[in-house]
Amino acid sequence: MKKIKKTAKYLKKKTGFTPEAGIILGSGLGGLVNAIDIKFSFDYSDIPDFPVSTVEGHDGKLIFGFLEGKRIVAMQGRFHYYEGYSMQQVVFPIRVMKMLGITHIFLSNAAGGLNPSFKVGNLMIIKDHINMFPENPLRGKNIEELGTRFPEMGETYSRELIEKAKDIAKANNIECQTGVYVGSSGPTLETPAEYRMFRILGADATGMSTVPEVIAAKHMGLTCFGISVITNMAVFDEGEVGTSHDEVQNAAGEAQPKMTLIFKELIKSL
Ligand code: HPA
Repeated sequence: MKKIKKTAKYLKKKTGFTPEAGIILGSGLGGLVNAIDIKFSFDYSDIPDFPVSTVEGHDGKLIFGFLEGKRIVAMQGRFHYYEGYSMQQVVFPIRVMKMLGITHIFLSNAAGGLNPSFKVGNLMIIKDHINMFPENPLRGKNIEELGTRFPEMGETYSRELIEKAKDIAKANNIECQTGVYVGSSGPTLETPAEYRMFRILGADATGMSTVPEVIAAKHMGLTCFGISVITNMAVFDEGEVGTSHDEVQNAAGEAQPKMTLIFKELIKSL
């Protein structure tokens, strides 16, 4: 808690900014940054106690500015559990953003499609998640200042924002799915047997992020909204060749403008 407050205080002092909404941009999805009227930008490595991003395609910047006239703070690149960070490190920036004043968090990620009706390049609005990480970020002594010991998770993803996002997609002719995201640690993609298992468990898309961040956000009472960009389809048959990281990055880049439009319109409507 001390570190969270210290980092928030540092950023507050440097910027004088009170953001209303936080945005987390996933692999290859950083293009939204071009739509931000940027007031302040920090390399993660320059922020006290911030972890440093290592994965290719993740720029590692914390950006303060205006998006559609709203005050926002955006993470270009996030911290993944598979990089070796502790869960506390993975969720540290969300906690700092909350201290800075955000009430809403918007998350994006690249994900593999499990629902056979999905296509590469589709967007999926996340309506719920399954936590298959080996850990929960709230394990350990509860930080009462942040939230309750046993957070209720019935409406983790805001129904209101989901409905609004569907309307925005429709109005802009964007094909948009809705579904359940399963998060697991990676860095391996799933074997065919694992993809089949996740499908049987009720998930529509699978990825290596978002779930820990959303748990920490919900703990603090933030309103959450998430979108997955379907960058590849699950390989359900043994022997079929799976997806490369390059393919994931390329598909994310192509779908990125659609996701950006939905985020922009949603944030405008806050
Ligand atoms: N599995 C896990 N994470 C991913 C995938 C996938 O198929 N695609 C993009 N991120």
